[in-house]
Amino acid sequence: MKTYPAEPYRIKVVEMPNILTREERAEAIKAAGYNTFQLKSEDCYIDLLTDSGTNAMSDRQWAGLMIGDEAYAGSRNWAHLEATVKEYYGFKHVVPTHQGRGAENILSRIMITPGTYIPGNMYFTTTRFHQEANGATFRDVIIDEAHDPEVDLPFKGNVCLDKLQALITEVGADKIPYVCLAVTVNMAGGQPVSMANMRDVKNLCVKYGIPIYSDCTRCVENAYFIKTREEGYADKTIREILLEMFSYTDGATMSGKKDGLVNIGGFLATNDDELFTRARELVVVYEGMPSYGGMTGRDMEAFAIGIKESCRYEYIRHRVEQVAYLGDKLIAAGVPVVKPIGGHGVFLDARAFLSHLSQEQLPAQSLAAHLFIESGVRAMERGMVSAGRNKETGENHKPKLETVRLTIPRRVYTYAHMDVVAEGIIKLYGEREKIPGLKFVYEPPMLRFFNARFEVV
Ligand code: F0G
Repeated sequence: MKTYPAEPYRIKVVEMPNILTREERAEAIKAAGYNTFQLKSEDCYIDLLTDSGTNAMSDRQWAGLMIGDEAYAGSRNWAHLEATVKEYYGFKHVVPTHQGRGAENILSRIMITPGTYIPGNMYFTTTRFHQEANGATFRDVIIDEAHDPEVDLPFKGNVCLDKLQALITEVGADKIPYVCLAVTVNMAGGQPVSMANMRDVKNLCVKYGIPIYSDCTRCVENAYFIKTREEGYADKTIREILLEMFSYTDGATMSGKKDGLVNIGGFLATNDDELFTRARELVVVYEGMPSYGGMTGRDMEAFAIGIKESCRYEYIRHRVEQVAYLGDKLIAAGVPVVKPIGGHGVFLDARAFLSHLSQEQLPAQSLAAHLFIESGVRAMERGMVSAGRNKETGENHKPKLETVRLTIPRRVYTYAHMDVVAEGIIKLYGEREKIPGLKFVYEPPMLRFFNARFEVV
């Protein structure tokens, strides 16, 4: 029998959510336009909307808040954060931002000119938005298997080198400002990239002089998968693995709200002196001084401590294995999920779950809404609604993966909570043909999934 590691922490403070009745939940989701983003957090018993900014901080991080230096310039907490990023991630320069998309904005504005192409191992919503807003076209160069929920591969986030080479041949290296390399790949189900693949991508890019910028939002989870799945890494520490991973890149954008173990924060890191100078020029316009970038001093202190805690083996092992526990339970009950189970959540395969609905009937959106009614668990649609429309044709992007993401916040829930989630989903799966489709009644023009409203068809 597979066993799972016990919590490597003790609970010091607790939060008391409301537990609504089924009728109250049905009312709440209707009032929210069947969009789980529009629910009140206090109405969600178990909130798996996202693992972003929902982490529980440690007592040391909370203590760190008290030594926040809120100076407008030159805060000592910035010095601590900057030194920690350099030491743990190995980059030469760091520019602070309020969160990941702040870093994406600055990187995209500096690097992208209209008519260029950004290859990436699957898109992420805000990342692609900033690339396109600056005139680039995003090209997906992830391996084909990443789009198939059933294919079980250890490194399903890998870049397909043939696709990357084909794009370089097609448009020319001078039309590719950088490769965006996500570790792990959120939209593919939290799937990791292998060290061997990162090395291969680097070798190919060096040949053509194309820089690599990593979206390193969930890099510690990626490092854990390398340690446990890739030959030659079992005896290396998470820190050693991280440093090797980033040695194959030229810089990174980071959302500290995930693997940084904080509630807000981010940075842009680079080894390029010129890009660093330009990023410091832009950060004052969009984020704040280069010694805070939209974070308070106390945020930066908590972030620095969070980065160090995230690299402790017992922490990351429990984090990833707790996610696997939920996934394994669902797989054992025959519920269709994206395989293998990724680092930050379990992704229900909504097309297979609601096989009586077409993709136009928004199966993932509807499944997320009905999961809330069934069990008070809030999840997130990651399918056609999130994918948005093609900026040229106006047609809906129709991603092969139509998923409901059950994202597990770090250090917040116990295995018993995972049991409640699994039971609710298994019950719903037994009654799946009763779940109806949805249609848009309000569709925002950009990043529509956040504020869209729907009704039952
Ligand atoms: N890159 C990835 C892979 C992400 O998952 C996110 C955020 C970002 C960049 C942007 O970072 O939110 O700090 O601006 N993902 C959240 C999620 C929102 O729920 O997956 P941010």
